[in-house]
Amino acid sequence: MWDELRAHAAAIAGRRIEAMLDPARAAGFAVRDGDMLFDYSKTTIDTRARDLLIGLVTARDVAARRDAMFAGAPINETEGRAVLHTALRNPDGGPLVVGGADVIAPLRATLERMEDFARAVRSGGFRGAGGKISDVVNIGIGGSDLGPAMAVRALSPYHDGPRCHFVSNVDPGDIAETLARCDPATTLVIVASKTFTTIETMTNAATARDWMAARVARPADQFAALSSAAGRTDAWGIDPARVFGFEDWVGGRYSVWGPIGLSLMIAIGPERFRAFLAGGRAMDLHFRTAPWAHNMPVMLALVGIWHNQVLGHATRAVLPYDNRLARLPAYLQQLEMESNGKRVSMDGADLACDSGPVVWGEPGTNGQHAFYQLIHQGTRVIPCEFLVAARGHDPALHHQHRLLVANCLAQSEALMRGRSLEEARALMAARGLSGAELDRQARHRVFPGNRPSTTLAYPQLDPPTLGRIVALYEHRVFVEGAILGINSFDQWGVELGKELATALAPVIEGRADPAGKDGSTAALVGFLRANGT
Ligand code: F6P
Repeated sequence: MWDELRAHAAAIAGRRIEAMLDPARAAGFAVRDGDMLFDYSKTTIDTRARDLLIGLVTARDVAARRDAMFAGAPINETEGRAVLHTALRNPDGGPLVVGGADVIAPLRATLERMEDFARAVRSGGFRGAGGKISDVVNIGIGGSDLGPAMAVRALSPYHDGPRCHFVSNVDPGDIAETLARCDPATTLVIVASKTFTTIETMTNAATARDWMAARVARPADQFAALSSAAGRTDAWGIDPARVFGFEDWVGGRYSVWGPIGLSLMIAIGPERFRAFLAGGRAMDLHFRTAPWAHNMPVMLALVGIWHNQVLGHATRAVLPYDNRLARLPAYLQQLEMESNGKRVSMDGADLACDSGPVVWGEPGTNGQHAFYQLIHQGTRVIPCEFLVAARGHDPALHHQHRLLVANCLAQSEALMRGRSLEEARALMAARGLSGAELDRQARHRVFPGNRPSTTLAYPQLDPPTLGRIVALYEHRVFVEGAILGINSFDQWGVELGKELATALAPVIEGRADPAGKDGSTAALVGFLRANGT
């Protein structure tokens, strides 16, 4: 199958996307799910490529793995765990028995406890020493930060609860700046950590406790915890009434749907949080039922595989023309690269093809004035994924939104069409240039074009739409991993650095000798210590 795909890619290598774009293609190379449209007509995928790509889905029996995931089978084999974040967004679904016990009733009970707490925080029923909670500080990192931070920003038009802040980095600048903006007497600190051992989070949590203790008699009363490790939250002195637990079958980067989403729930309210869950659930249903060619996560994954594993384009730019999705690229970096950035397949063999791509991006139009130069005229092809809403949330500024939309569509058009040397020469001639100067200037104004992009379009970024988008990307990662033979749900690649950091801490503090370290590390330790570390 891979050979056939590569042979086909080679056979159509010179083909221009623009030439393929007859009127039928826009409809035929797009997926609709309700009011959401995923357009991949501006890629080189043709009918044969699509058939071959769908052949991968069948050959790898993605359907069986998908159904096993939804059923709670332990598909995270290296950790011996089920993968059931989808259950979090189905709290009213029927019983789902995993390991002999129903998982839905307990998670629904936790959700209802979260809702009671969120309502109390929002209404003033739960108060700090100084009165109603004005600020919520979520301390967490990775999946315990990126999901809620991204979603709170994305849904800011619906934010009617206390201000929310997110502290993740162990860099003291992160927490110091955040706490400086808050009043300890009216701040709720949420310690979000699945394991409750992550060094950054526990260090920041201790700093926040000290900060609060300086002004508040019972600081622990203004702490809540989101964790799978109830024993550790107890040891930390957080009242179990404010501990919201989840099972080990919720991976960190898939956890925004449950307790890790508490800050989002406090920000937008429990009803809108439920709408966010409903959006994710709608995408689950679509993923489970739509035929492959009309299945949005599947086609999104296959487009990615075509670009990365077949054509060899190693990076993917995510370009939301929706400024409130500013944190989406960072969120997707963890979701995609921590999930599919692996070189060993599930059966322990070397991967037969490249792992998942480098994912990066920034909102448009800002990126246009920064790195789009390279996307348009650099030597490497960078497949782009645009996201755009038909409407913003600021009706009085709709004219600005239209300009945003025009820019989004213009970029994908420009990437596809490019500008030929003849066109560039004509442009220069029209500006009065001629001879050698015209030749020289024209070359700089050539755009090779034929650069692929996709566009995800939706009416408006509201809670259910955000839920659908996040679940769409989750399932895309799943399909990509299943086809590549990767376990998308472990993350052993983050371990080594953590171990070495723990070993280096006493060296940095001057309590241990750097002698055993390599020359470079020892020299860097020496420089930093000599300069005040
Ligand atoms: O370092 C990677 C990681 O384990 C992520 O997978 C996870 O989202 C993050 O750290 C935070 O982990 P925890 O929620 O246990 O603090």
